Amino acid sequence: MNSAMSCDADPTRAMTEDDEVSDCSDDGISPEIRRLLNTPICIGGRTVQSRLILSPMSGLTHVAFRELLAGFGGCGLMFTEMCSAGAVPHENRRVSAVFRWRDAELDKLVCQIVGSDPAVMAAAARRIAAEGFFGVDLNFGCSVGTICRKNCGAALLKTPDLAVQIVNAVRRAVSIPVFVKFRTGWEDRPQPAADLARRFADAGADALVFHPRVAPDRRTRPPRWQHIADVRQAVTIPVFGNGDVFSGPDLERIMRVSGCDGVSLGRVAVAMPWVFAQWTVGVAPGPDIFRYTLLRHLELLLTHFETRIALRKFRQAALYPAAMFQYGHGFYKKLRNAPDAEQIVAVIHNFFDAAPRSMDRPNMNLFL
Ligand SMILES: Cc1cc2nc3c(=O)[nH]c(=O)nc-3n(C[C@H](O)[C@H](O)[C@H](O)COP(=O)(O)O)c2cc1C
Repeated sequence: MNSAMSCDADPTRAMTEDDEVSDCSDDGISPEIRRLLNTPICIGGRTVQSRLILSPMSGLTHVAFRELLAGFGGCGLMFTEMCSAGAVPHENRRVSAVFRWRDAELDKLVCQIVGSDPAVMAAAARRIAAEGFFGVDLNFGCSVGTICRKNCGAALLKTPDLAVQIVNAVRRAVSIPVFVKFRTGWEDRPQPAADLARRFADAGADALVFHPRVAPDRRTRPPRWQHIADVRQAVTIPVFGNGDVFSGPDLERIMRVSGCDGVSLGRVAVAMPWVFAQWTVGVAPGPDIFRYTLLRHLELLLTHFETRIALRKFRQAALYPAAMFQYGHGFYKKLRNAPDAEQIVAVIHNFFDAAPRSMDRPNMNLFL
C-alpha cells in the first residue's frame, strides 16, 4: 500500500493524547448516566464492562470496521452484520464477506443470524458457540422487503409463536448468551412488544435490544423511546434501547426516558467510532480525529478485503462521517467518485486541510 495511504498517527492516540476526562458538561452526559454506562452488566452469566454496544449493520459492521472500533475502546459488545442462518454452519470464515472475524475480538463479539426455521437457527447458533463468540443475536427487526418476504426479520413479529419457538430452539442448542433484536412490530402500540418481550425472556433469551419503531416505518419517523420503558418493565433480563441516538444529550435522554439498561448505537458509531470511549469515560477526541479515522478505516478495509470490495465498503461507510460536516454532501460525492484508494486519500486530505466545519448533529439527508 502507498505510504500516503496509511495514517500518520494512530487514531487512538489522536483521541487520547490530551487524556482529558470531562465532567460531562462538554458532551451533555451527566455523571450519573456515565456511571451507569460504566457499571458492568451480567448477560447470561457473563460480564460486559460497558453498556454502550454496537448495533448490527449490514455492509457496515464488518471485521475491518470492528478492528477500527476496538482501537478506540469503550464499546461493551460488537455485533456482526446479519448472517444467513442457513449459510452459517458451512461458511468458510476466510472467504465469507460477513461471517468473518479476528480471534482477538471474539470475547466481545456477538454474531447476528437471520432466518425463520427454528432448527436452522439452532444449527447456526451451535456453530457460533463452537467458534467462541460471546453470544448469538436473533434478527427479528429487519424490515427490508427482501428479508420480510422470506418471513424473516421483522416479519416474524407477525407470527409471534414461531418467533418464540426460534428463541426456544436456539436456547436449547447453546449455552452462550442469546440476544433478541426486535422492534415495536407492525402496529404502533407498545403492548404487543412488551408481551412478546416477556415471552422471549421466558423462552430463554438473555438480553433484548429494542428498536421502538413499527416495521413499515423504516427510519423515516422518530423512534418512540418511551416504548422502550414498556419493554423494560415487562422483563427482568437486560434491555438495550436503540434508535436515533446521535449525541450525548440524546444518550442522556433515551436512558432517562426509557430506564433501559444500556444503549445500542448504530449509524453514529460509523460516523464517529470513538463515541463509545467519549461517552463512557469522557475521553476528548483530538482535532483531526475524522481524518485519521477515515484513513484508518480505508487502511483496515484494504487489509481485510480484496481492493474492489474494500473500496465499495469504504464508500458505503463514508456517508456517515461525511454527514457530520457542512458541505459533507460534496465531500461524500467526491469520495464516491474517486476511482481508487490513492485518490480517495487525496480527497480526504483536501477536505480536511480546508478545516471544514463539523456539526453537532448529522445531516439527516445523508444519514440514511
Ligand atoms: C445500513 C444499515 C444496515 C443495517 N443492518 C442491520 C442488520 O443487519 N441487522 C439488524 O438487526 N439491524 C440492522 N440495521 C438497523 C440498526 O441495527 C439500527 O437498529 C438502526 O440503524 C437504528 O439505530 P441508529 O439510529 O443508532 O442507527 C441496519 C441499519 C443500517 C443503517
